[in-house]
Amino acid sequence: MDKTVITYGTFDMFHIGHLNLLRRLKAMGDRVIVAVSTDEFNQRKGKKTLIPYDQRAAIVGAIDCVDLVIPEESWEQKLRDVKEHDVDVFAIGNDWQGKFDFLEDLCEVVYLPRTKDISTTDLKRSLKRFLSIPQEDLSKAFEVLELLRRDLE
Ligand code: CTP
Repeated sequence: MDKTVITYGTFDMFHIGHLNLLRRLKAMGDRVIVAVSTDEFNQRKGKKTLIPYDQRAAIVGAIDCVDLVIPEESWEQKLRDVKEHDVDVFAIGNDWQGKFDFLEDLCEVVYLPRTKDISTTDLKRSLKRFLSIPQEDLSKAFEVLELLRRDLE
């Protein structure tokens, strides 16, 4: 029987940490479902996204290790989703360690190590730093860009 893995997240400014997580999920099962947080839900969480929901969902859905994208609209939906989609494993990054243990009655709950040195928050910070450089000072801007590129290597 197919093993179904589910995860939840915002996936704004899709980056290598997101890709690594999705690849790990596919290695854990046959079918990967990703619940992408809607803009309204993010607003309620006090999270502001740069990329709108439809685009974030389309990007995640285009990744070859993702089988289905559903919207994440509330905290409470996890119990319903796990039952509705016959989920075997709930997996998420360990920044959420222990937060979803209540699902253990229904499925296996796994917290995965995050990829080091990358997050949407870091990318937004880098973008802000880059945009704060005066337009006329292009050579300095390119120096900063080179530093950012090295940060990501
Ligand atoms: N994730 C990860 N490694 C990273 C960043 C994120 O494994 N370096 C995982 C998270 O643990 C989560 C999923 O990717 O399970 C979606 O996380 P999301 O909150 O969308 O990404 P972040 O980069 O953590 O975003 P933010 O900085 O806004 O919290």
